[in-house]
Amino acid sequence: MKVVVTGGAGFIGSHLVKALLERGDEVHAVDNLAGGKRADRLHKGAVYHDTDIRDTGALDTIFSGAQLVFHTAALPRVQYSIEHPEETNDVNIGGTLRVLIAARDAGVKRVIYSGSSSAYGDQEVMPLSEDMPARPKSPYGLQKHVGELYCRVFSEVYGLQTVSLRFFNVYGPAADPNGAYALVVSKFIKQALEGKPLTITGDGEQTRDFTHVSDVVRANLLAAESPLVGKGEVLNIGAGRPVSINTLAQLIGGKTVHIEARLEPRHTAADITRAQTLLGWKPEISIETGIAELKTLAKL
Ligand SMILES: NC(=O)c1ccc[n+]([C@@H]2O[C@H](COP(=O)([O-])OP(=O)(O)OC[C@H]3O[C@@H](n4cnc5c(N)ncnc54)[C@H](O)[C@@H]3O)[C@@H](O)[C@H]2O)c1
Repeated sequence: MKVVVTGGAGFIGSHLVKALLERGDEVHAVDNLAGGKRADRLHKGAVYHDTDIRDTGALDTIFSGAQLVFHTAALPRVQYSIEHPEETNDVNIGGTLRVLIAARDAGVKRVIYSGSSSAYGDQEVMPLSEDMPARPKSPYGLQKHVGELYCRVFSEVYGLQTVSLRFFNVYGPAADPNGAYALVVSKFIKQALEGKPLTITGDGEQTRDFTHVSDVVRANLLAAESPLVGKGEVLNIGAGRPVSINTLAQLIGGKTVHIEARLEPRHTAADITRAQTLLGWKPEISIETGIAELKTLAKL
């Protein structure tokens, strides 16, 4: 089966490309390499299109004959979106709209959209369930939420099957350890490798629901097949077990230093009942196992 992964040269997209190749699909990756080009994220056997998702004409050709589109491409950093609201809006909302139009026009069976827990913003009640109103606190969170709304509207108005998966703090091999906005797990691993103290923002008691990338990939594959979704449903994809940044630092090991707190939600925890019910999915990799794997890979 022909399938397309937008953002296929990115962290999550590249793991998805690998899994799809392994099950024998004809895999096309659409990526303009805005997130950089890394050899460890390119897989032999996939067709790579160095293309911007906003290029509708090019998408029409690439999507022709495809059954599934996994839409992971985005400019996915909260801080970057605060500094560049227009550019990120253009890619994260405008790009998503163009992907949906091209999928509709090409007769794609289903679009699986990479949503984000950042749509929730700060909520009073934990765990976060999909029925709560979205209260994004950044342009990025807002943009990712609008993408979900567009997916639902395309299902309702045009009959295109869509499903949105809200990922919670994804980590794993090939995540990006560089840059000011690197996600905390890969940043800590890099600091530990360099013999530097792990920089914990604020008191470190803030919690996150760290989710292993292989669990995220499995959720995508199940969402592509499940007969119970396809009408724009939104599903949390999280480990369902919040862990503090201090605990994460202990698992990685080494010295720590506390730096200034950031504007960020205090706690994030996913209620994963809906994904369990509609996809038959549950996370399999604990944070202890995932971190141990990363430490082995990094020779820490
Ligand atoms: N990593 C996480 O913890 C996390 C959490 C929640 C949601 N998500 C979502 O998952 C998706 C993938 O995230 P990731 O961590 O793999 O990010 P990533 O930056 O590693 O991958 C995104 C890819 O999209 C590509 N891209 C950006 N703009 C593009 C454009 N205009 N045209 C074509 N390609 C473009 C980039 O080059 C990059 O390869 C994103 O939609 C993100 O919002 C990620």
